[in-house]
Amino acid sequence: MGAMWVSRIELTDFRNYAEASVSLDPGLNLFLGLNAQGKTNLLESVYVASAGRSYRASSDADLVRWDRPFFRIVAKVERKPSPVRLEVGYSREGRRLIRLNGTEKIRGAELSSFLNVVMFTPDDLALVKGSPGDRRRFLDLEISQVSPAYRNWISVYGKTVTQRNALLKQVAGAPPVRATQLLEPWDDQLAAVGARVIARRAEVIAYLDELGREAHRRITGTPGVLAVRYVPSVQFEAPNVQSIARAFKARLAQNRQVELIRGVTMSGPHRDDVLFQLDGVNVATFGSQGQQRSTVLSVKLAEVEFIQAHTGDRPVLLLDDVLSELDERRRAHLLAEVVGQYQTLVTSVEPGCVGIMPARARVFTIDAGKIHTEEVAPGVVPPEGCAERHSEQARIQGPSALAGGDAGVE
Ligand SMILES: Nc1ncnc2c1ncn2[C@@H]1O[C@H](COP(=O)(O)OP(=O)(O)OP(=O)(O)O)[C@@H](O)[C@H]1O
Ligand SMILES: [Mg+2]
Repeated sequence: MGAMWVSRIELTDFRNYAEASVSLDPGLNLFLGLNAQGKTNLLESVYVASAGRSYRASSDADLVRWDRPFFRIVAKVERKPSPVRLEVGYSREGRRLIRLNGTEKIRGAELSSFLNVVMFTPDDLALVKGSPGDRRRFLDLEISQVSPAYRNWISVYGKTVTQRNALLKQVAGAPPVRATQLLEPWDDQLAAVGARVIARRAEVIAYLDELGREAHRRITGTPGVLAVRYVPSVQFEAPNVQSIARAFKARLAQNRQVELIRGVTMSGPHRDDVLFQLDGVNVATFGSQGQQRSTVLSVKLAEVEFIQAHTGDRPVLLLDDVLSELDERRRAHLLAEVVGQYQTLVTSVEPGCVGIMPARARVFTIDAGKIHTEEVAPGVVPPEGCAERHSEQARIQGPSALAGGDAGVE
């Protein structure tokens, strides 16, 4: 297993950072700071260096510091056979520049061959509690990290649906035979690309199901059995591309009349969902808060193992504000899984979190877009401080802080 870690991050006009740089430890790095100082923004910059785009911004322009013309992120990554320098730049006019080792231009999708990250945020709860669209986005981001081809299929599939929908509206009044004639090439393309997407999703979900079940057993220590199930919008018998494409085409033919009336493509990967069950019961509808959090954490840990298995690298873990959300047992288990295994960047508003970090953790404070290295000796603050003081803080700040902590950003 290759050792891959970020040794340094340099930011120019990224979010609320004018100029900032930080040298990281290959193990645990803890970033402390009050709300709205730039903790999440720093983790986001590492994510962008790995994915070429943000997981939370609706447009790249949101990432550019207000009133500035462009941003630049430089990430120095230690890896075998030699370290690399990744650079992601974006100008407000929409010019994007991604470079490897200062000179070679690469595409955003290629960054993940040099750096993989897994982000943990309180927003991950949307994986269970959110819409099917949230779950599809999770799957797509995850699979794209290990498969640039999948990233491409998703994009082609999305465009095909849009164009086919436009055509459905156009031919609605045409004689049925003519409408079918015009739609058929689009059906073929939709089924061909869609079937690849479905087959890959089925494969990955089966993997998450197995690994998620094991992770869930480790972190909860309870007998409850977690299952991750694919709920595809097109039913198929065998999970191979040909048979899925056949089933998909049959479904399109079957829905022809209704689709012409509604003017939308009613089946396909854009209507898929994923179901989480504990002992056979839907976690979204019946799970307690704690069960929902354990489910999400288990699936994220499964994602870490998935990426590791498919890339041969240990991903860098970005834990944004999640420790304080977990009870002691789950926090201890999470840290135990992470320590010594992965480079990890952890943020917290709570100085008490220093106390639960292993002695070798490097501690930083972030204050209004400035990053300072701290000389704090871990262990000086009692471990309870991490969770308890945070919940007080959350109460004082009201709903926007509870909704994910980045209110006012987008
Ligand atoms: N493009 C931008 N230009 C300048 N400032 C920005 C930009 N985008 C976001 N910000 C600001 O960055 C600040 C810090 O945001 P960030 O989400 O990193 O805070 P945080 O330290 O994670 O806080 P919390 O503890 O509440 O999660 C916010 O106040 C936001 O207004
Ligand atoms: Mg934050």
